[in-house]
Amino acid sequence: MSKSSNQMWGGRFADGPDALMEAINASIGFDRRLARQDIEASRAHAQMLGATGIVDGADADAIREGLLTVLAEIEGGGFAFSTALEDIHMNVEARLTELIGPVAGRLHTARSRNDQVATDFRLWVRDAIDDTLEALDALHAALIDQADRHHDWIMPGFTHLQTAQPVTWGHHMLAYAEMVHRDRGRFRDARARMNESPLGAAALAGTSFPIDRDMTARALGFDRPCANSLDAVSDRDFALEFLGAASIAAMHLSRLAEELVIWSSAQFRFVVLSDRWTTGSSIMPQKKNPDAAELLRAKLGRILGANVALLTVMKGLPLTYSKDMQEDKEQVFDAADHLLLALRAMAGMVADMTPRRDALEAAAASGFSTATDLADWLVRELGLPFREAHHVTGALVARAEKAGVDLPDLTLAEMQHEHPGITQAVFGVLGVRNSVASRDVSGGTAPGRVREQIERWRGGDRA
Ligand code: ARG
Repeated sequence: MSKSSNQMWGGRFADGPDALMEAINASIGFDRRLARQDIEASRAHAQMLGATGIVDGADADAIREGLLTVLAEIEGGGFAFSTALEDIHMNVEARLTELIGPVAGRLHTARSRNDQVATDFRLWVRDAIDDTLEALDALHAALIDQADRHHDWIMPGFTHLQTAQPVTWGHHMLAYAEMVHRDRGRFRDARARMNESPLGAAALAGTSFPIDRDMTARALGFDRPCANSLDAVSDRDFALEFLGAASIAAMHLSRLAEELVIWSSAQFRFVVLSDRWTTGSSIMPQKKNPDAAELLRAKLGRILGANVALLTVMKGLPLTYSKDMQEDKEQVFDAADHLLLALRAMAGMVADMTPRRDALEAAAASGFSTATDLADWLVRELGLPFREAHHVTGALVARAEKAGVDLPDLTLAEMQHEHPGITQAVFGVLGVRNSVASRDVSGGTAPGRVREQIERWRGGDRA
């Protein structure tokens, strides 16, 4: 008979579990992804047990060696995972027992699966954050490069997806660089906060053995042990912070993705997406579909879903550990996988896309995009109160619209009809180039300001 988890803890159990019980209870189907972290944590624990004399030094060494063999078997793909053994912790321990005999049973001294899984999972999320940060860095660099390549190209800036004012391509790209930078900050914050070791909390109350929690914390790269054993085994807020930061990052991705979908359409033609990130249609030969961008637009669905799912699992759980919490892992794994994939794909897409200068500038010049410049001119040159300038400009826009032309196409006489003080000089501010150049304020769209930001990023003083 193959070993079941009952044999690991089944002293008081006469009967084995129902087959459905085994199916619903087992987590090995997914928590095998914690194998490396589980073994790393167990090795640190064994070392501490040896160092403190809780376990004989030679036994601790044998355990540590045996665990390396188990890890090699798992990473080599040769490990036979067993559902009957429920989870990664018991799969590893059972195999360790096969390898080194009953001495393996000493590993679980002064420990519980509760502090074990909390430790493993923190280590996993910490690694996931590091991977995510790397991908965010790459996306950030791609945005800076894209801004740098065409920093002063003019495009329409939108509010309500209606033409608002001309802006620069570099400025638009740098807006996303800001968002990605804040995303990095959120993941870093979460990492710093979660970096405490649950190990030693044991089942919930701590342990009667004279363990050294600082030693295991240090060995695992944690800043310190968790201060409260009940909290250590029972919260998953670190996973929720990861999912929260992931949701916000995915939301940012979805906005950029949506812009790429719109911009690459035949109606906008602002950018050409490279063949590497698009697909054809099986029926319409002319099509080049922005599938990657669409999928990135969609990823927030599952990532926020994971966030909501875990938050809901945790809601109302009494202290301390409850098996409900086993439902934490799949959500986090899925969200982490898809966020990483999405970030990498977005970095590639941004790096590869080609903006179309003519289309961008033509669009920037249409839709009365310099109406605000005209109003500002009336204030500056004629001393009108802004509200009155706004009114005069509105009348000019209506006039142009009626004539089917843009603002710079109106004659001076037509202009003066709305306000007699207007002079030829007004035409100077109606061009999009002047418009963006005049936004020469900190954080503004003027090419010089954009250049300044690019240099600041490149100089690393904002990394
Ligand atoms: N597989 C379990 C989980 O993911 C490990 C902890 C089990 N602890 C327990 N007391 N049953 O949460």
